[in-house]
Amino acid sequence: MAEREGIVYRINGPVIEANQVTGIFMGDMVEVGEERLIGETIGLDGDTAIIQVYEDTSGLRPGIKVYGTGLPLAAELGPGLIANTYDGIQRPLRDIQDKVGNFITRGVRVPALDREKKWHFVPKVKVGDKVKANSVLGTVQETVLIEHRIIVPPDVEGEIVFIIGEGDYTVEEIIAKVKTATGERELQMFHRWPVRQKRSLLNRLNPSIPLVTGQRTLDFLFPIAKGGVAAIPGGFGTGKTVLQHSFAKWCDADIIVYIGCGERGNEMTQVLEEFPELVDPKSGRPLMERTVLIANTSNMPVTARESSIYTGITMGEYFRDMGYHVAIMADSTSRWAEALREISGRLEEMPAEEGFPAYLASRLAEFYERAGLFDAGDGKLTSVSIIGAVSPPGGDFSEPVTQHTRRFIRCFWGLDPELAGARHFPAINWIDSYSEYIEDLAPWWVENFGIQWTELRTRFTEILQIEQRLQQVVKLVGPDALPDSERLILEIARIIKIAFLQQNALSEDDAYCVTMKQIRMAQAILHFYDRAKAIIEKGAPIFTITGLSVVQDILRMKSRIPNDRIEEFDDLLATINEQMDELEERYK
Ligand SMILES: Nc1ncnc2c1ncn2[C@@H]1O[C@H](COP(=O)(O)OP(=O)(O)OP(=O)(O)O)[C@@H](O)[C@H]1O
Ligand SMILES: [Mg+2]
Repeated sequence: MAEREGIVYRINGPVIEANQVTGIFMGDMVEVGEERLIGETIGLDGDTAIIQVYEDTSGLRPGIKVYGTGLPLAAELGPGLIANTYDGIQRPLRDIQDKVGNFITRGVRVPALDREKKWHFVPKVKVGDKVKANSVLGTVQETVLIEHRIIVPPDVEGEIVFIIGEGDYTVEEIIAKVKTATGERELQMFHRWPVRQKRSLLNRLNPSIPLVTGQRTLDFLFPIAKGGVAAIPGGFGTGKTVLQHSFAKWCDADIIVYIGCGERGNEMTQVLEEFPELVDPKSGRPLMERTVLIANTSNMPVTARESSIYTGITMGEYFRDMGYHVAIMADSTSRWAEALREISGRLEEMPAEEGFPAYLASRLAEFYERAGLFDAGDGKLTSVSIIGAVSPPGGDFSEPVTQHTRRFIRCFWGLDPELAGARHFPAINWIDSYSEYIEDLAPWWVENFGIQWTELRTRFTEILQIEQRLQQVVKLVGPDALPDSERLILEIARIIKIAFLQQNALSEDDAYCVTMKQIRMAQAILHFYDRAKAIIEKGAPIFTITGLSVVQDILRMKSRIPNDRIEEFDDLLATINEQMDELEERYK
């Protein structure tokens, strides 16, 4: 084998340069010095290589060697991913902690997937079967919630010439052999895949089913589709992380990949401590049984933060290829972009807006493009959805990361500091936010609930938009100058905001709202509005409406009527009708 080596001559933080390089190619993983620190070749010019190092480089000196591995930066994909916590280059943080304690010393090598653990493998193919990418060779019940399907890697196609019997095996044992056009391939329960390369071989479909989140403002007003892309931009403390956590807890994806690029260590600690305690509302099992965590804290090298996004999405694509619906959360993509900026600065590249490299936009595009709904064959669908938080400095959405992100996402959930300040949570601004999936998802509501959801939704957004205009007038001349029909709109908008849009992520009764309850709540509010409008037109003054006791019932319906007692909305409607009938009688 040709030697793959070079000599370090310059060290600049996490970026080092080596010359006299032989046998090392662009994108190759390298090992630096005798401690064998992990790095990646990100530039190559003649016999000079630029390498970003994923570990602390302090104390390294020129003259030490770099060793090429001949392999790109890759993730290990197989049983053991679920419930694990990794850093940006897929080092298992808990296993490392067990080995060396709380601080990751450099050069520590622990494989991403446990090499000793045995998994119970059940074969699903037999000798003579034809297999190709994503064919299921067998299954492993990885957690109570997740059956890990051992799939054929994307680059293998052929005939099974050996398949191991049912039994307990480590991830490294040969479980199958495939005769391919170029020879025989031995397959293990895991395989490696280069993180910067998308795995997609499947046919992309137009989004058509929602990723149900149980968050009313999202599901009802600004829904995301399975396979969709969304951004949550919001200034400091406006609720990005709480919203991402609500997603991870409640959304109806099969697998969650949570990438935490925290700026503060404690934010990630919170995730690491809180997630293992969470319980899946549907199964009652720990939520970690369907979750992979990727954790970066500010004390880890920025380079690991840069790669974490790719490691996360590669794992997501792997579970998608098994036929699952996957949701990926990245909190926050701004911290990732800042890592790009720092590395770019070290490389002395020509900066574009606000010091970010000119390729910021294309990197963001590459990331969000890996989402999608796909045809998994046999009429089955599979997807990767991406929800990225963005933290614009000073909450200014005109900065480059927010602006570029906007070009590649189709749901924009803008968090509003004024709403957060008024403790209206989630602080999603209903005027600036949007979803481009409305048309795609409308049929789902008809098929599953028999309702014209877009009509209900449009009535809500219209009321909220009219209210915004009327509030301008109120500011100038006060509410008394408005006719009662318009004051009614102000009242209905107030009800929509308090009763419907506000949803406390920490409350037991309201953190998750089933779709049917969302529908019944919206219908109750709109029914109240229709009846009140007719009565106002007959000359009743606005205070007769605002003074009705049923207004209080509507404001409290979210906590009074639980998800499993939806039929109680019938009583609420009856009360609305009773009180309205009585008023109508008076103003005949
Ligand atoms: N949906 C919600 N329900 C109830 N409280 C909320 C909700 N969202 C946010 N909050 C409150 O706002 C606080 C700040 O939220 P969060 O930490 O999510 O903000 P952030 O945007 O992630 O902040 P940072 O910019 O610091 O990362 C929370 O601690 C909580 O008190
Ligand atoms: Mg946060």
